[in-house]
Amino acid sequence: MSTVVIVGSQWGDEGKGKVIDYLASEADVVVRGQGGNNAGHTVVVGDKKYALHLIPSGILNKKAVNVIGNGVVFDPEGFLKEIDGLEAKGIDTSTIKISERAHVVFPYHKEIDRLAEEARGKSKIGTTVKGIGPTYMDKVERSGIRICDLMNEEVFELKTRAQIEAKNQIITKIYGGQPLNADEIIANYKAFADRIRPYVADTTVIVYDAVKANKKVLLEGAQGTLLDIDFGTYPYVTSSHPISGGFAIGAGIGPNMIEEVIGITKAYTTRVGKGPFVTELEDETGDRIRVAGNEFGTTTGRARRCGWLDLVIVDFAARVNGMTCMSLMLLDVLSGFETLKICTGYEYEGQIIKHFPADLNVLAKCKPVYTELPGWKEDITKCETYDALPAEAKKYIETIEEHVGIPVKIVSVGPKRSQTIIRDSIYRA
Ligand code: GDP
Ligand code: IMO
Ligand code: MG
Repeated sequence: MSTVVIVGSQWGDEGKGKVIDYLASEADVVVRGQGGNNAGHTVVVGDKKYALHLIPSGILNKKAVNVIGNGVVFDPEGFLKEIDGLEAKGIDTSTIKISERAHVVFPYHKEIDRLAEEARGKSKIGTTVKGIGPTYMDKVERSGIRICDLMNEEVFELKTRAQIEAKNQIITKIYGGQPLNADEIIANYKAFADRIRPYVADTTVIVYDAVKANKKVLLEGAQGTLLDIDFGTYPYVTSSHPISGGFAIGAGIGPNMIEEVIGITKAYTTRVGKGPFVTELEDETGDRIRVAGNEFGTTTGRARRCGWLDLVIVDFAARVNGMTCMSLMLLDVLSGFETLKICTGYEYEGQIIKHFPADLNVLAKCKPVYTELPGWKEDITKCETYDALPAEAKKYIETIEEHVGIPVKIVSVGPKRSQTIIRDSIYRA
């Protein structure tokens, strides 16, 4: 058995796509288990850059089967656009399998996402406006439409017409918006259904059989721990479970089948959207990190908020995910700083807090307690081994390992596949 989970240990955009693409060269199956096309995973292969949203980042490797699991919310229009974009670049997309249990995103979900954000005014969440929250709301409310419904023309039309009618009431009467045209939506979705049909499968069987046959299965988390609906900075979160446990449900496998949990950890911290951020740098240092790290969103193009590495967050992520190791990303971005800061605790009303608090009112008042470390001047983007890294960079990595209590098995020093230092094997024999 060799089942590996990739999770974001911060607020997303940690570089999960790069690591998944790297590890997918050996994987048999790559699985997305939650979220939707709110995710933006950038993968750089040679001179080409790929932005993946709904399609697993294993797609750029020929061997792996790429599964969109039952826990994902599936936007057919976004999916087909992505397929067309990849096919135009010569990528074979026939390895994709979509769960018949996944819930479908409709235009009314996106419209309600947009209108709800507008209505929130100052307390808006800063969603990606991809209809993610409203689609999960329908799933939990038991009025959602699934891929298996989309595959059945009669059932689909009946259910969708009823939903559009109900949602138009909300759009017009609660938000004062314009009603959506049911005939148009149904006609469009029937056309989408025809194109999607060949990809649809009972993905739980594919994943289970691969695990049982001792194949290499890579479970691709989207978003990050602090965006988890239970463990994140609620309500400034997404509506799914990006933590490792989310895969037991979102991919349909037993939790005892998960072996390695890699926490993808950026060497500093970023977040998009609103909500408290203890180590945020709203100054020249933050700007410098943003420019050096090209911290602009893959999905929405928004400038990401930047700050020093926060180990209170990474510690918390290690705990709730059962992280067995870390992959430290974008270390090259920190080259050239005289001094680097790592947050190892929060000061709250004169007390030191070590555990990430649930209450945002507490979090908003927390001040970072920093350990300062010397920086390095060298460009590290060409370092191919751990030993080739400057002593200060190694000290930075080892300080993180010591604090979190798990090893950093991968160090990333640039966006390309070749800019990856593997310190220890990931898949177990
Ligand atoms: P994801 O959502 O976790 O997959 O991360 P994103 O793709 O949204 O953001 C990470 C960005 O950093 C992407 O543009 C990657 O190409 C880039 N990246 C990944 N690893 C490294 C690295 O080690 N160094 C640098 N400079 N960029 C990296
Ligand atoms: P990847 O997989 C960073 C954030 C949004 C917003 C909140 C809720 O690329 O790491 P949603 O549209 O999900 O309802 O928005 O979650 N968010 C992300 N931030 N990376 C992501 O994905 C994100 N997906 C959602 O910015 O704050
Ligand atoms: Mg991203």
